[in-house]
Amino acid sequence: MQPAIVLGIETSCDDTCASVVRDGREILSNVIASQDHLHRKFGGVVPEIACRKHVESLQPTIRQALHAAGVSYADIDGIAVTNRPGLIGALIVGVSAGKAISLALGKPLVGVHHLESHIWANFLGQPALQFPFVCLIVSGGHTDLIHVCSPGEYEVLARTVDDAAGECFDKCARAMGLGWPGGPAVDKLAREGDPSKVRFPRGRAGGSLDFSFSGLKTAVVRYLERRPQGVTIADVAAGLQDAIVSVLTSHTLRAAESKDAKWIAVGGGVAANSLLQQRMRETCAVRGLSLAIPPPRLCTDNAAMVAAAGHWRLAKGLASDLSLDTAAAGPLA
Ligand code: KG4
Ligand code: ZN
Repeated sequence: MQPAIVLGIETSCDDTCASVVRDGREILSNVIASQDHLHRKFGGVVPEIACRKHVESLQPTIRQALHAAGVSYADIDGIAVTNRPGLIGALIVGVSAGKAISLALGKPLVGVHHLESHIWANFLGQPALQFPFVCLIVSGGHTDLIHVCSPGEYEVLARTVDDAAGECFDKCARAMGLGWPGGPAVDKLAREGDPSKVRFPRGRAGGSLDFSFSGLKTAVVRYLERRPQGVTIADVAAGLQDAIVSVLTSHTLRAAESKDAKWIAVGGGVAANSLLQQRMRETCAVRGLSLAIPPPRLCTDNAAMVAAAGHWRLAKGLASDLSLDTAAAGPLA
């Protein structure tokens, strides 16, 4: 089967997402019902609230995605749904809906790994992207460097040994009183700050490509307790962002060099960071590397990337059956 039109469903965390994608590349619709307003007052995602809201929002979100794409259920050739890793209750909502639609339409269903979908967001943003490539995945829960050899063939080159980059943004933003989610707030405030006013540690030294952000988080929290006069919160935000982005950029470049890669790709919520996007562009231009970096709306969680990642599996006949299960954790490779 060559599924042309795939319905993507993503409910792994706190965004209820549905999307219709043609041929794995062309986004016909991409609807994201954000729950940020519900979790903000708790300073982070509350799993129970997230699950209940997914139950309420998923059907209208799917209907909206079909309507915006100008298609009906009958036009859908296959369904792709995130089934791992994530909040188990949240994943169950999406997977149950995917199974029901698959059964009702008699169309194939495929479970997609959340990180694989973040990799595939790059094909939606940059159709020229070629295998093999090195992909940096930076989100609230992951900071991984992956050598993407071909569809389904992934080698993990590095991961974080403690906090994820997004987690570091979020925790430091909280200490700065910037609210949640912290990444976008730091990104915005850092534009008014001077990164040279305060230099934070750049993670672990040595030859390893692995990341470590817990020391940086502690350094920022300690610095805020004794912030000197003349250094603003915006300067701290700029210093923090500079430290995170410098580490992400240099490790990605080293990984690309170690694999002699011609292409670098970036995905996950932190990939929406304006300084990371700028530094990646500059670095790749200087080194003569091609860069795929999705537009911010495709960096953060969305279902278009799930439909794109599901498309190649469905096209190869690698559908899941109705015993498809969810998992809170689980490796990509
Ligand atoms: O991929 P994502 O939407 O959800 C997960 O799979 O985790 O990533 C969410 C993370 C959060 O930590 C959020 O603060 C961060 O991405 N983020 C950003 C920006 N936009 C979202 N971090 C830095 N700069 C941004 N502009
Ligand atoms: Zn994500």
